[in-house]
Amino acid sequence: MLYSEKVLDHFSNPRNVGEIEDADGIGEIGNAKCGDIMKMYLKIDDNTITDVKFKTFGCGAAVATSSMATELIKGKSIDDALKLTNQAVVEALDGLPAVKIHCSVLAEQAVRAALSDYYTRQGIDPVPIVGEIKEPEE
Ligand code: FES
Repeated sequence: MLYSEKVLDHFSNPRNVGEIEDADGIGEIGNAKCGDIMKMYLKIDDNTITDVKFKTFGCGAAVATSSMATELIKGKSIDDALKLTNQAVVEALDGLPAVKIHCSVLAEQAVRAALSDYYTRQGIDPVPIVGEIKEPEE
């Protein structure tokens, strides 16, 4: 089997799909090569991610990784969300085929882009905290 049970589960039954109208941070990231796009919405209270929703126009692995990424950061502190790596998303999904690793990078960067937007809205330069947001190129 190319995909783990968990990937198939998060693809067919993605968690936290949708938008947050009064989001505190919104991040959008795309991959020019495959054309897939992810949008991540965060609600943040007192440095805690109290809600998170996403919309992904992309491949099955992009849907599964964004779904898992939302599960991993929901209820966590901003600091924990900043530590979320694409490897952690892949591990939580019991692995991804090598050609699909870039999809998990998209999920990681979508979270970071939303956190960047959160800091920008507070009048804080996000780069020293979140780093540069890079669109994955593979
Ligand atoms: Fe591009 Fe999956 S193929 S995100």
